[in-house]
Amino acid sequence: ASLQALDRAVPPARRVADRHAAVQRSEPGRFENTPDTDPSVESNRTWAAGILRRVPTSTLGMAAVRAAAVRDGSELEALMTGTIEAGRAWAERGAAERGAILHRAGDALEARRAELIEVMAAEAGKTVDQADPEVSEAVDFAHYYAERGLELEAVDGARFTPAGVTLVTPPWNFPVAIPAGSALAALAAGSAVVFKPAGLTARSGALVAEALWQAGVPTDVLRLVDVDEESLGRQLVSHPAVERVILTGAFETAELFRSFRPDLPLLAETSGKNAVIVTPSADLDLAVKDVVASAFGHAGQKCSAASLVVLVGSVATSPRFRSQLMDAIGSLTVGYPDQASTRMGPLIEAPGPKLRDGLTKLGAGERWLIEPRPLDASDRLWSPGLRDHVARGSAFHRTEYFGPVLGIMTADTLEEAIAIVNEVDYGLTSGLHALDRGEISTWLDTIEAGNLYVNRGITGAIVERQPFGGWKKSSVGAGAKAGGPNYLVNLGSWLPAVSRE
Ligand code: ALA
Repeated sequence: ASLQALDRAVPPARRVADRHAAVQRSEPGRFENTPDTDPSVESNRTWAAGILRRVPTSTLGMAAVRAAAVRDGSELEALMTGTIEAGRAWAERGAAERGAILHRAGDALEARRAELIEVMAAEAGKTVDQADPEVSEAVDFAHYYAERGLELEAVDGARFTPAGVTLVTPPWNFPVAIPAGSALAALAAGSAVVFKPAGLTARSGALVAEALWQAGVPTDVLRLVDVDEESLGRQLVSHPAVERVILTGAFETAELFRSFRPDLPLLAETSGKNAVIVTPSADLDLAVKDVVASAFGHAGQKCSAASLVVLVGSVATSPRFRSQLMDAIGSLTVGYPDQASTRMGPLIEAPGPKLRDGLTKLGAGERWLIEPRPLDASDRLWSPGLRDHVARGSAFHRTEYFGPVLGIMTADTLEEAIAIVNEVDYGLTSGLHALDRGEISTWLDTIEAGNLYVNRGITGAIVERQPFGGWKKSSVGAGAKAGGPNYLVNLGSWLPAVSRE
């Protein structure tokens, strides 16, 4: 039975058969990312179709998972006391032993690739082409942080002391990669973790925890908790045992957490309002493809998504780019992930008031090139929207909507386009499509965002190659980037080494 399960779990034609062996074979200091499943291989497509056939019948909920339901203050105290104890033992095990467990966690996540995709499709409406790379990213985090953890012990004259307990509060839009990355970082640094999955994607989070437990992370070192945010959220966040909080979510949530506890040691990756600039030197076909993928992947529900495209000079004044963009957007097949034809999936839930405004209301002077519409009674399935003539300083220019709607702005020069992009309060991802080297260096020197992409889509940062994190209101607290070399040092502190004599 277990062999059969494995057959089902692992895509038949993966480019690297044994990821762990690949890591060990690689030169010191060189990291090899886990490949996504290659859809051009027919057996992989059959594998993916098999996953999708199971989606409508997936059983959701956390019933089968060992999530601790924390119902009141005394249960919270008991949980924290146990976690502090377990965390001490975890810290004492040393980075090499923890690293070995983390490498096994990477393998365990890989072995659950199919199951993780299935649950993300069922729970978050993710299409396979969105969910598969998310599993790769989670696997990458495990192997990458396993190695970075070793570096924390290799500093002369200073000793790294991990945080006792790290609270991990991820969002629903990357329900596997973000909690996996956050928890694995803290674990690699030697901290215990209290992990509260997003309510809408609790089962995806639970599967991540199960994989880590299976790999040897003790259940009292990685705690999966079910906590009512209204009644216990404040107590959890401001509990004195919580020495770090890794939050990925809205800027307002970070502010709320800070209001609970002003000195909160927070590592928060927050909102974005991201733009792609297209200049006349660009390969326009490539620009259209990348803008569409960045704006409408996972129905635009990514902090990294493109929400504005700023057209410069003749790209703005000639009809070509707009018309190609409209064709490309119009050809996106919208549906649920269990249909193989689906290119854009549903919203995670019916739009809230802000997103509904973004999908239905035009600002002064704006007009729809493609008007978004609800496609079924669920109110989750919306066709993609494209609005033109978004004005500088308007609501659409400055607001993060988190859905499938893109706005066009125009500028006479690259410098003006950069000023438009830099006017927003956030600075998470940013894109430039241009082949002119002078334009590329001007943009790189002056654009205000954490992750900069030239002639590439602006979502899907790759662990180690593109460490992820923003500027301005896209980041609150310690700023080092996830999936980069300096992330783990935020999860503890350096003390002078004490002589052992
Ligand atoms: N890390 C995610 C991305 O780059 C948010 O799209």
